[in-house]
Amino acid sequence: MSAVEILKLDQLVFHPWVAQTPRTVPAFVGGDGSYLVDDTGRRYLDFSSQLVFTNVGHQHPKVVSAIKQQADRLCTLAPIWASDVRGDAAKMITDVAPAGLNHVMFTNGGTEAIEHATRMARIHTGRPKLLAAYRSYHGATTTSINLTGDHRRWATDTGSAGVVHFFGPHLYRSAFGSRAPTEECERALAHLEQVIALEGPSTIAALVLESVIGGSGVIPPPPGYLEGVRDLCTEHGIVYIADEVMVGFGRTGEWFGVNHARVSPDLMAFAKGVNSGYVPLGGVLVSDSIHETFVERPYPGGLTYAGHPLACAAAVGTLRAMHEEGLVASAARLGTDVLGPGLRELAERHLSVGEVRGIGALWALELVRDRDNRDPLVPYAATGPAAAPMAELGAACLERGLIIFVFGNRINVAPPLNLTDAEAADGLAILDEVLSLADEHVA
Ligand SMILES: Cc1ncc(COP(=O)(O)O)c(C=O)c1O
Repeated sequence: MSAVEILKLDQLVFHPWVAQTPRTVPAFVGGDGSYLVDDTGRRYLDFSSQLVFTNVGHQHPKVVSAIKQQADRLCTLAPIWASDVRGDAAKMITDVAPAGLNHVMFTNGGTEAIEHATRMARIHTGRPKLLAAYRSYHGATTTSINLTGDHRRWATDTGSAGVVHFFGPHLYRSAFGSRAPTEECERALAHLEQVIALEGPSTIAALVLESVIGGSGVIPPPPGYLEGVRDLCTEHGIVYIADEVMVGFGRTGEWFGVNHARVSPDLMAFAKGVNSGYVPLGGVLVSDSIHETFVERPYPGGLTYAGHPLACAAAVGTLRAMHEEGLVASAARLGTDVLGPGLRELAERHLSVGEVRGIGALWALELVRDRDNRDPLVPYAATGPAAAPMAELGAACLERGLIIFVFGNRINVAPPLNLTDAEAADGLAILDEVLSLADEHVA
């Protein structure tokens, strides 16, 4: 099928997050490792891991073969029955999870994981409210989109979801006027403590927090912040829900983002990297004490395809590949030796780069019109012509065979964890070229 035919068929598809006008995007028909291949055979380097989920790259043979083997044995099975492959996946997930998270509720993706984690927390505590950070994304279903702090919430915010937002630490655009990470950490924790006190601790079921803020900024927390959040939650009987949908399973150079702080949350939502997105899968890791709540009392919720055998087989294949190929260590090395230094070097050459932030295989270049006043290259929540300078950068990368994810005034760089140094160099060289276009907007 030619690109023209594929794009014609594509008009039958209702696409999420975008206007439904006909689009001109590449038509991808194949892929391998860090590359996607279009209908003409052109190869594109995938510096986005799609939506930050192909952690082991495209068409990893161990994952493809695990799915094929399971398809030959048993394609599908309702969640009520015992299943070897579902159990294997749960074992491999709990084996790498932080201490005390010994059970897995499977879902089909990240937003369902957040929905069920918050429902569990509300039932476990008997309390109504949820806390979440302004700079956050937690999914697109009712509770998750209301938890989401960034502008993606606005169009669907009913104001009635029982969510209270707070400011998390973000030194580059500090809400507290801080000048150093320790100061930002202390002030953000003091602010959170006040929010909890003034909302009334006995009304708060859970605090939901991305362990590294992903889509809303790529913001690793300062040392001490997650520990402080853990302590506040423990002190007030609030369930700490870590959202590890984007950063779980190696993305930050540890199995989970919370491992950098050595804290254990009460519930942990995951998806994406658990099986590199080859078949939809997500879930909630459940602590022993919350599991206890549901030992005699049925949990009021479930999903027809929860723990789907093909998705669980993909998880087993992915996690096996990650262990055998040392991909968590690869992600850490990408951050310290390759992407971190490479992106900082770009910042030295391009005045449009206000800040380089990231960890492991998750990075962002925050683009500005003026380094001194940090005026963003496009305004917050910009769309249409106002967002054009950033959209042009995405298009310029694509023209040069590089897929990046542009969001707000940021270029996000999140390649597969097994990206080679040569591939990294190719992608960075294209970014170097394209950033000259951004520099033209600098005052
Ligand atoms: C941190 C975080 N939480 C939740 C979600 C929602 O996951 P899904 O799109 O699989 O529903 C996402 C998706 O990008 C995410 O990045």
